[in-house]
This record gives sequence, structure tokens and C-alpha cells, in this order.
Amino acid sequence: MASTRITIFDTTLRDGEQSPGCSMNVHEKVRLARQLDRLGVDVIEAGFPIASDGDFAAVQAVAAAVPRPIIAGLARAARHDIERAAQALEAAVRPRIHVFLATSDIHLQHKLRISRQQCLDQAAQSVRLARTFCDDVEFSPEDATRTDPEFLFQVLEAVIQAGARTLNIPDTVGYTVPLEFGELIRNIRERVRGVEQATISTHCHNDLGLAVANSLVAVANGARQVECTINGIGERAGNASLEEIVMALRVRSDRYPFETSIATEELYPTSQMLEEITGIPVQPNKAIIGRNAFAHEAGIHQDGMLKNRLTYEIMTPQSVGVPDSKLVLGKHSGRHALSLRCEQLGYHFERRELDEIYRRFVVLADEIKHVHDHHLLELIRQTYGDSRRIPPGRVASGAAASAVAAGAEDASRKPSPGTPVDFSVVGLTSIPTSDHLSEQEDYLWGV
Ligand code: KIV
Ligand code: ZN
Repeated sequence: MASTRITIFDTTLRDGEQSPGCSMNVHEKVRLARQLDRLGVDVIEAGFPIASDGDFAAVQAVAAAVPRPIIAGLARAARHDIERAAQALEAAVRPRIHVFLATSDIHLQHKLRISRQQCLDQAAQSVRLARTFCDDVEFSPEDATRTDPEFLFQVLEAVIQAGARTLNIPDTVGYTVPLEFGELIRNIRERVRGVEQATISTHCHNDLGLAVANSLVAVANGARQVECTINGIGERAGNASLEEIVMALRVRSDRYPFETSIATEELYPTSQMLEEITGIPVQPNKAIIGRNAFAHEAGIHQDGMLKNRLTYEIMTPQSVGVPDSKLVLGKHSGRHALSLRCEQLGYHFERRELDEIYRRFVVLADEIKHVHDHHLLELIRQTYGDSRRIPPGRVASGAAASAVAAGAEDASRKPSPGTPVDFSVVGLTSIPTSDHLSEQEDYLWGV
């Protein structure tokens, strides 16, 4: 049976751009939109045309430059906004107008100062107006998760009747929790009249760190579009991270039998491009695309990785576009990884000799935290001079290549500003043999 498709709606260029420090000019937006196209997203929300002339121009330029995906422009539920969005989208092959209006009492009373009835009328009228420009209209009841559910259902029914074909349910302030959000989506699917004519979508913010979990539980309960951003950027704590959602769906397809159109090996290049354009570094431990996502420092983990990568990796780095895993040498590392790096640097040690190198290495790593190749080479030379150097003809070509590859890999995983990253890194293309030891002994010695 064919699995169900989840539409990936990328809002990096709109909500993502609302992150402090993440604004992009027209040229940068077009560059990133082209990469989002290569990544395979279904919808690109290119901007909020009424917000500024720059935003208008960016939506126009993206619409003209990227014909395959749907290009969405955001509009408040107001005539001028909708007209401006329609105008900006004129060149789009598949335009979408995304209309939003807050529905929670907090927003109605304090921000919009309108009644529920006025809200209901304005939502329906705006969607009707948007439909005069474009067949593809999405409606978002802003702050949906803090809206009285009965009123939310009424609004959704009204906008479906007015012609909305996507019902996006934003957790605008990142307030909801998975069980509650799943229930809300299920109730929308079961109780809103006419819902079968529309696609239910989610748009989760990350204020409690739950944006991805909430998006996934929504999918499990009937949402078929997910709004998300590269690197999880977005207003305040950000949006649900595209790469995490896509890889969760892929790695756990046993639990989530859904497909996306994403070319996952483009995830890392896209993340890197965004980091380069905005100058906002990705946190090192960020899932999927962070610098440490495929880096192993603990000796026990490194030992497992050298024996079989399945021990500590649930996906291959290549599947998300990262060149390779790396074993970082630090004070938690073990003899196996150290020995391999020494070989890659052109030195071979017998077991007892390596014990001595290891003892000194741990003291050094404790002292200086980040051990680089030149530190390791100095330590080797201080201990044994050049006597343990492998003669040039005998350096295994695989070992030499992986030593180079380790450097190259570091260069490709660009450092975040101000963060030292060129630790001594072990390439994983050659694995040392230790057949003189029993497996258990080898494990205990190696870590
Ligand atoms: O977070 C939000 O509610 C939004 C809407 C405009 C969809 O970004
Ligand atoms: Zn948002």
C-alpha cells in the first residue's frame, strides 16, 4: 500500500526571517529558494508582501525564479494585504495566498479589539476575497492552541465554506503539549464540517522545545502538511525544524508510515547555506545538521563505531548530506581511536607503547580540552622521537587517505564563529586490527 504523503511547507524565508538577525535581502532569498527547490520542499513561503517593499520584491523574485514548488505569500485578513500578496505572486506558476487572523480571546480582546462575531465575518470575507485572486488559499487562525476549541471549529467551518483549501493550525506561542495538540487535530478532523475538502496543517513554535514533537503528533492524528524551517529558525525560540521532522519520519517510518518529497542528502548543504547567509551559527549539538550530530568522543562509543556504526548511529551521515562521521579525540576517547589516528598520521605503536602515548594524551586532553593533530604529533615526538614512523612505502593508502579526508571533512563542516573545531579527528575509512586480543579484552583495552 502506498504511504501517505506529507506536504512540507517551508517558511524559512518568512517566519524564519522573523528571527532576530536573520533578515535576508532579495538576492539571498532567491539563492536560498533555489536550494529549497533542490531540497524538494512542496511549498515555499517566500515572505509577507505587505510588510515592506523588500519583502514584496523578494516574493516577486522567488515566484519568478522557482517554478516547481507552490510559492506562498502571507497576508493579514485585510483587503490591502491580500491584494498586495496577489500582486507579488503574479509570476508564480503555483501561487498560494496565506491569510491569517487571530482567534484566541487574548488576541481578540487585547490586540485586535474585535468580537468573536467580527472575527468570524472577517475571516470568511478575507478568504473569499483571496479566492478571487487565486484557487489555492490557506487560512491560519493565529494562536489556535489558546483559542476556545468550539469557536475555533466555527471559524474553520466558515473559512472552508469561503474556499480555504488548507487549514493551518498554528501553535503561535509554543504553548501546547503533544497529547493536547494531537487531540485538537483529531477533533478538527472528526468534528469540523467540510474538513474533508481541506488539508489540515500545523505550524508549531518552539518556546517549550516541543515544536517537532507537536508537529509529529499532529501528523499521527491527521495533519497532512507541516510548516517548518531550516535550522528551526523563526520568531523567538523558532519553528519546528524541517530537518528533524523529515528525518524523524524517515528513520521511524515503522511508527510514521508517511512519505515526504525531501531529498534528504540536501539537508546539510541547505543548513550550511542558511548559516552562511544569515551568519547565525547552528548550535553544535543540533540534531541532524549540528557539528556534533555525527561526532563521537567517548572511548566506549568510538570503540563501538569502529566495530560497527550501527552501535551508535541511527542514520548515516551521508543520508543527510554530511560527508562522514568523525571520532573526536578528547579526554574521554580510548586507545582504539587514538591508535587509528596515530596510524593515519604515519606512526605505528605496539600495545605497550600506545599505552604510554595514551596516558600522556589523557593528561594533555584534560589540560587543554581541544587536542589538535599538531599537539598529538608533538606528544609522539617527545615520547618516541621519529623512531615509530611508518616508512612511507608502508603507510596504507587507506590510512593516508582517511587522514586527509579527516581534514577535508572538518573544512566542509564549517566552524561556528568563535568555536574551535579543528580537534584531532579520526577518519573512519580504515579500521585497525587487534586480532592478538580476545574480543572482551580488546574492548576493555580499547576504550
Ligand atoms: O505563528 C503564527 O501564528 C504564524 C502565522 C502567521 C501562521 O506565523
Ligand atoms: Zn509562526
